[in-house]
Amino acid sequence: MSQIWIRPATAEDADLITDLTDAAFGTPEEAQIIRQLAKDGDSLASLVAHNDRDILGHIQFFRVWVDGEDVASGLGPVSAHPEVQKRGIGAGLIRFGLTLMEGAGRSHCFLLGHKEYYPRFGFSAELAANFDSPWSGPHFMAIELNEGGPASGTLTYPAAFGT
Ligand SMILES: CC(C)(COP(=O)(O)OP(=O)(O)OC[C@H]1O[C@@H](n2cnc3c(N)ncnc32)[C@H](O)[C@@H]1OP(=O)(O)O)[C@@H](O)C(=O)NCCC(=O)NCCS
Repeated sequence: MSQIWIRPATAEDADLITDLTDAAFGTPEEAQIIRQLAKDGDSLASLVAHNDRDILGHIQFFRVWVDGEDVASGLGPVSAHPEVQKRGIGAGLIRFGLTLMEGAGRSHCFLLGHKEYYPRFGFSAELAANFDSPWSGPHFMAIELNEGGPASGTLTYPAAFGT
């Protein structure tokens, strides 16, 4: 495979991100969430992985409020194009994005996802269980990014998630 870079998405990438996300998930809901997050000002980072021709992967980070304070982040949706999955694109986007969220001072990152995949990045369902959220359960995971943040609390997700 040719060299791959990660960069912030631009407005011109929006349709390609929709196509990629629809192809990866097979449903339109995830791309709708990405567009709504941007529209509502709740996106913290939208990153694409690309080679010299195509966008191959995308990851979305968004605001998460803890007890009403805009201090944490959420991850998702994340996708790698079906033709290039299992080649490290998802992992690269996740690691790069978490570094950005840590640098932005976000206390935690929360996600709902595959419990076999995300623990390798440091995500823990045990940590997430300290927080009340609409997503509670074994697939709901968290990672602490910066010390001194809330150890528990009630999470509020952006309106794009319809919670
Ligand atoms: C999940 C996804 C983003 C991972 O990106 P990727 O570039 O394919 O994955 P990586 O190369 O970084 O990592 C490969 C690992 O992910 C695991 N993985 C991929 N999809 C998985 C899934 N649905 N459930 C569990 N593990 C999964 C692979 O089994 C592999 O594990 P291994 O390293 O132990 O062999 C990508 O497969 C994808 O777009 N899937 C469809 C959309 C989706 O499910 N998004 C995430 C929702 S939580």
